Amino acid sequence: MIDQYGRTIDYLRLSVTDLCNYRCQYCMPADGVEKGPHGAVLSVEEYGEIARTAVKLGIRKIRLTGGEPLVRHGILDICRTLRAIPELKELCLTTNGSLLPELAKPLWEAGVDRLNISLDTLRPERFREITRRGDLDDAFAGIRAAEDAGFQNLKLDTVLMGGLNDDEIEDFLSLTKEHPWEVRFIELMPMGPCAAWPKERFLPVTEILNRFPALEEIEPNGVARRYRLPGAMGTVGLITPMSHEFCGACRRIRVTADGKLKGCLHSREEISLRGLHGRELEDAILRGILQKPKGHHLTEHASDTPRTMNEIGG
Ligand code: GTP
Ligand code: 5AD
Ligand code: SF4
Repeated sequence: MIDQYGRTIDYLRLSVTDLCNYRCQYCMPADGVEKGPHGAVLSVEEYGEIARTAVKLGIRKIRLTGGEPLVRHGILDICRTLRAIPELKELCLTTNGSLLPELAKPLWEAGVDRLNISLDTLRPERFREITRRGDLDDAFAGIRAAEDAGFQNLKLDTVLMGGLNDDEIEDFLSLTKEHPWEVRFIELMPMGPCAAWPKERFLPVTEILNRFPALEEIEPNGVARRYRLPGAMGTVGLITPMSHEFCGACRRIRVTADGKLKGCLHSREEISLRGLHGRELEDAILRGILQKPKGHHLTEHASDTPRTMNEIGG
């Protein structure tokens, strides 16, 4: 599938829930989000049908997101259902890692190929402060469980925030010396609670290259520009939605947990896929791809979408 700007669209991000066991300061209000009525989120069968139709139209990679996808009942059924689609090349999942001690092995057995794990700090008290609920030990237990289960090429996603965790860049870089992980620094995007944050919190991650000139550029794969410290086992990625737009190379569409297709993380336009089957569902997905905007209009203060990150899935 090629959109009207010549971009191949082959990557679908499917959100399986808005709910999360954490309340990260930049993502969610302190008291969380309301649990919707039963049936407000797509069922396992609906995910299967949407995924099969999208794959028929050219999608080759699906990433399950949330909220926190691992709090969703039936997550393993969703994984197994998607894995059974023969043309699907890659099934991935983005998680905060806290439930991986129980779920890493079942996820591997259900056919998930790759995990990205969010980790914004390496300091226990700060981890609690940022996530409001989480425990750093659980996150590391999750990382270990993922490796023990067989997952390789783990990516750790770190949202860089001025005055909150920008004094830990070196510690994160050090992790890559001894572990085969990709540590990715992500620029904070003004969505949900953090849209009102002071501008000192928003840092261009490319600053890291000035501070650590030893980082050598390597070939990119996906949205991140990639680097390596000499002799390191792992790599470093920089994701720059604010300072360097990468929309020209975007290959994604997304579906929210309530079944709305979005051409862009930041777009206001949504197409409801609920209740559509066969040709109608195909047409709606094609329409979403054709309507995919050229890029976002993110400014320091706002995204176009009224949704918060936990409702879209990053
Ligand atoms: P890979 O398959 O490993 O390349 O993963 P990914 O980078 O596609 O997925 P992940 O969920 O780890 O996303 C990393 C971060 O990139 C997200 O947390 C978002 O902050 C950001 N991001 C993801 N998709 C988009 C997008 O379409 N636009 C923008 N501006 N940022 C995005
Ligand atoms: N800006 C950038 N990244 C964000 N994430 C959540 N909210 C934001 C934001 N406003 C990240 C999470 C996680 C991924 C799914 O999205 O930290 O790594
Ligand atoms: Fe949960 Fe991820 Fe949002 Fe944190 S950023 S509250 S882990 S969905």
